[in-house]
Amino acid sequence: MTFNLTKDQIEIQQRARQIASSLIAENAAEVDKSEQYPWDNVKALTDAGFVGMTIPKEYGGPGRSFLEANLVVEEMAAYCGPTGRIAVEANMGAISAVMHYGTDFQKRLAAELVLAGDKPAICITEPDAGSAASQMTTRADKRGDKYVINGKKHWITGGGVSKLHLIFARVFDENNVELGIGGFLAIRGEADGLKLGAREPTMGLRGIPETELLFEDLEVPENMVLMPPSGFKRGFADLMNAYNSQRVGAGTVALGLAVGAYRNALEFAKEREQFGRPIAEFQGLQWMLADMSVQIEAARSLLHKAALSAGQNGSPFPDPTLAAQGKIFTSEMALKVTNDALQMFGARGYSRNYPMERLARDARMFTIGGGTAQILRTVVASRILEMKLPQTREGFLQMAEREASKKALQAAE
Ligand code: FAD
Ligand code: COA
Repeated sequence: MTFNLTKDQIEIQQRARQIASSLIAENAAEVDKSEQYPWDNVKALTDAGFVGMTIPKEYGGPGRSFLEANLVVEEMAAYCGPTGRIAVEANMGAISAVMHYGTDFQKRLAAELVLAGDKPAICITEPDAGSAASQMTTRADKRGDKYVINGKKHWITGGGVSKLHLIFARVFDENNVELGIGGFLAIRGEADGLKLGAREPTMGLRGIPETELLFEDLEVPENMVLMPPSGFKRGFADLMNAYNSQRVGAGTVALGLAVGAYRNALEFAKEREQFGRPIAEFQGLQWMLADMSVQIEAARSLLHKAALSAGQNGSPFPDPTLAAQGKIFTSEMALKVTNDALQMFGARGYSRNYPMERLARDARMFTIGGGTAQILRTVVASRILEMKLPQTREGFLQMAEREASKKALQAAE
């Protein structure tokens, strides 16, 4: 595994930085204040070829890697968190699930939408199934040659602006027998039963709507079922495996926000004078800056490693453990770095006339959305211990019973 970027990758990074530091930076405060989806930024990303980067050439994309898409994400997020998130969802998550699991028809459809600037929505979370995502109750009932979906999701990023939706639902056959969990594709404006609910008033990342979505007899034809490779029975595991790409992307937005805050703090420390000296001359602040740089470098290395793990060990997606480790580390790092950088600005850090409070508010999300830092620790623990770690009471009791009978059997032998 190499950490040296190729010439081509450096060129992508530089082009992204150029756009991010001009148009995206100019719009950032207004996007936050107006809470409006940044369509101008989406156009800039689209014109630059920074959407649908991971779409293979045969479907009209440039066939780039997750690493390359993440280079763009970091640059965008360093100036504007919402734009970083748009770059994630236009390159990872739902679109990569479709590109790897979809039929030819689905790939063409999704590629066309995303390459034209759509940021697909991924619909997993429900009011009673957040961390416990596998306990979702949204159901898809087979009725002839279609599925009828009923249920409610909330905290759906891009609700009301995204066209393509990937909806996770519990699947039932015509006899009401549960088959597992599947992915269902629906396009806003073309599907009557896809209804927009209330928008959440969020702390940060205000340019992207987070909304409820209601499915009221939403009809999904069979050709829009995203069939997981191992079928509905293991559908949840397959779909979550695809979701690992988005976890790396989310970590990279947090990284970008930390980088933005650190860069501002570095400049400010050289300019701001107190006691007749630039504050950068005080060792207390020098060590804060040094710590920020260490944390950022470590986070970036971990995320790049996670992104590069895609395609290895038989999976086209980033390794689940590395994706979770990367998101835990980076999301927590970003909380610290954005807050320390804000601290270095003194009162100015607390003012909405400066970007520091926005960066800190935006960073606050990443230990929550996309798998909380606690849940991801359970994912990591389960994998490093090579143990199933059921979180439901019944699951835990069943495991304990199995262990007890195994021990009793061993003792009897
Ligand atoms: P809960 O699951 O209720 O958790 C509450 C607390 O309990 C947390 O601290 C959690 O860590 C802890 N906890 C829960 N279970 C355990 C456990 N077993 N062990 C230890 N601690 C535990 N979802 C989507 O489907 N699509 C989206 O596009 C989307 N976008 C989002 C955007 C934002 C800005 C946010 C904030 C959320 C978004 N989400 C989205 C939802 C997000 O993924 C969930 O919020 C997250 O999975 C946590 O679920 P919850 O909020 O219901 O918290
Ligand atoms: N990558 C690959 N496989 C995954 C996975 C991931 N990210 N998450 C779960 N799986 C697999 C598990 O390995 C398991 O496979 P196995 O049967 O071969 O052991 C299967 O899916 C079921 O997972 P398990 O951990 O047993 O499920 P659970 O019911 O205990 O639920 C999760 C735990 C997965 C729901 C929880 O860890 C989680 O990720 N919650 C956060 C949800 C989230 O990120 N929402 C974001 C919305 S945008």
